[in-house]
Amino acid sequence: MIKIYINRSNLLELAFTVLSFGLFSTSSAKEGMKIPATFEKNSSDIISAGLDIPINKLYNSDGTGLNNAVVLFGRGCTGEIISPEGLLLTNHHCGYGSVQGLSSTQNDYFAKGYWAMSNKEELPCPGLTVTFVRSMEDVTDRILNGIDDEMPESHRDSIISIRIKNLEKGFRFTTKKDATIRAFANGNQYWVIISETYRDIRLVAFPPNGIGAFGGDTDNWMWPRHTGDFSVFRVYANDNNLPADYDAKNKPYQTKQFLTINTSGYKEGDFTMVYGFPGTTQEYITSLQLDQINKIIDPIRIESRTKKLNEWSNNMNNDRNVFLKYTSKRASIANGWKKWQGEVRGLTLNNVSEKKRAFEHKFQDWANTDTALPYAKNLLANIHAKSSSRDALIAANEYIRESVLGIELIQQGAELNRMLKCIDAGLPQEKLNDTLSKISKNWYAFFKNYDAANDKDVFVALMPLFVEKNKQFVPQYYNDELARFGKSYAAWADFVYEKSAVASDKKLYDIATNPDRKKITNDPSWKLYNAIITLRDKKITASLNAYNDSLIRLNRLYMKAQMVKSKYESLYPDANSTLRIAYGHVKGLDPEGPSGYAFQTTLDEAVVKNNPSIPEFTMPDKLRTLFNTKNYGRWAQNGTVPIAFIADNHTSGGNSGSPVLNAKGELIGTNFDRAWEGTMSDYYFDEKWCRNISLDVRYTLFIIEKFGDAGWLLKEMKFTPEPKKIATKKKA
Ligand code: ARG
Ligand code: GLU
Repeated sequence: MIKIYINRSNLLELAFTVLSFGLFSTSSAKEGMKIPATFEKNSSDIISAGLDIPINKLYNSDGTGLNNAVVLFGRGCTGEIISPEGLLLTNHHCGYGSVQGLSSTQNDYFAKGYWAMSNKEELPCPGLTVTFVRSMEDVTDRILNGIDDEMPESHRDSIISIRIKNLEKGFRFTTKKDATIRAFANGNQYWVIISETYRDIRLVAFPPNGIGAFGGDTDNWMWPRHTGDFSVFRVYANDNNLPADYDAKNKPYQTKQFLTINTSGYKEGDFTMVYGFPGTTQEYITSLQLDQINKIIDPIRIESRTKKLNEWSNNMNNDRNVFLKYTSKRASIANGWKKWQGEVRGLTLNNVSEKKRAFEHKFQDWANTDTALPYAKNLLANIHAKSSSRDALIAANEYIRESVLGIELIQQGAELNRMLKCIDAGLPQEKLNDTLSKISKNWYAFFKNYDAANDKDVFVALMPLFVEKNKQFVPQYYNDELARFGKSYAAWADFVYEKSAVASDKKLYDIATNPDRKKITNDPSWKLYNAIITLRDKKITASLNAYNDSLIRLNRLYMKAQMVKSKYESLYPDANSTLRIAYGHVKGLDPEGPSGYAFQTTLDEAVVKNNPSIPEFTMPDKLRTLFNTKNYGRWAQNGTVPIAFIADNHTSGGNSGSPVLNAKGELIGTNFDRAWEGTMSDYYFDEKWCRNISLDVRYTLFIIEKFGDAGWLLKEMKFTPEPKKIATKKKA
């Protein structure tokens, strides 16, 4: 799933500079996530890399392309349709949040797994959606027509937003579908996306964590890997096969566009592609901006989260209730934490800042003599001037986000504050009640997954980090309280968690039903929140915003300069959660020497890792029995079952669950991760280090059929070679 690793302001500040760096460094065919519709014009690279089907099968706008089998799953993952009955395959970790909503200590699907044995047993997942991209069209000319690059930003923005609104309206009218226009390449390109979003999605199959999350955070972002990271859902539609809210009467979504599953395997060097929705990359930022990520932002996040995760893990291990409340939150906090460590390692080992500086010299040489864009020669100097001198603010902002607002009780002060604002605004009773009931609903959701004692441990661990590392930016209220409790964070925490309504659902609902100004402003949760937000607004946000705003413009111009410099060739815009295709080849990983790592892992290796005394590495008994009896059915290869494989496709967060296709466009796996140091590919792709990790579809099918006993699902799938043929061969 997409983790928003970078907060909004950093995004603005960094989400830029599209086409400079990748372009001028390695223009390898493997780098890049391309917009499928652009292959219509430029397909020579992907064909010479190995694609063996007509381009218009991969993508077209008449409803028959493979794009109709690849979906945005929830808000941040990818999924693929694998049957004419709307059966959908994605990752285990992509279904995790929905499954948590369906789980309880009695029905603990993380421990036991879930296998529907018929359509009737498929479980509705409230709030989960699946979006199909029916077509995309380049509308840059219509949006940017007549707009001068250097026109004042506010003027430019207002023209563009009016054009977008009008054009979207037109597309909605003509297509009778959703239409959204999105900016690409830092606002130098615009595309309209015609889509349909289905709202009745049901859980079909979910292996227990001992398979679906095997290896847990220890193995996360690492190769070799033995995680059966898949889950299965089904899309439901109304009588007209159209999107509808959940209704018991809805029927499985009917489609001719679903993926054929190829079960004959692959070998090193084979062409593969990943079709999906990568979230955010920043391939074209300047060296200084990269240093801010690598040397300031990432380390602060890692430091804060190490402390938080220590407390959470302890408490989760001691209490299954705490485990169930925090398992989904923990997975997402730990995911970023581990990824950034790999990113810092990769960027450092590869001297990426140095490489970017070398590129900037070349860019400057070009810009000095270029006549087409008079502003090009000053761009880098201007960007650098803006970027430097903001380090302290960026650091403080990050500490506040991770170490202060990372404490749930303080974060909830935001809800108290909303309530206070309603009271102060003197809303009519009816409106007030309405808002208050929305807030209580949020609280209900919050309490379902909250344990105050656990959070208190986090407070004691994170507060000292914040106070001691940020002396300049600590609110007076914090210093006063700390002094009042004799400099003891534990005593301070005792008071806060004893006194605050946030630590008690009863007290909080009481506030929500009898809103009282005094009760709110006396609550330590509100006081802590209010103090930090007031300080941040005053001392940090204003300057950071001004800085980000000016960078938006500079980065857009810088991007444009790159595009002009490269004559618009082979450029790919940074990922922005829109549909893309990356392609490469199956390839082992050997960054440091001849030992390297093979391109594929197996069940035999997983069994060696099995360790009943470590929950993350505990395999279910039934899987061990299947292993002991070699009960692999038709999924065996060389006496074992393949689990995962790596290739050098350029992927990112959001590509989780993406179909991994062979040269014929057939499904051979499901993407779920990247190799550790290679996670730097969000900023710099290097085929020596960068690998995407995919689950072998044969392991998925083996687990469904032999472990889940849900072989009925295989009957609706289409295989090549067809299973019967395999059986005949064997007999012969
Ligand atoms: N690293 C993978 C991705 O970004 C998998 C995450 C889920 N697994 C975990 N142990 N948290 O999303
Ligand atoms: N696991 C990631 C996700 O959830 C995909 C892996 C990556 O970032 O490469 O999107």
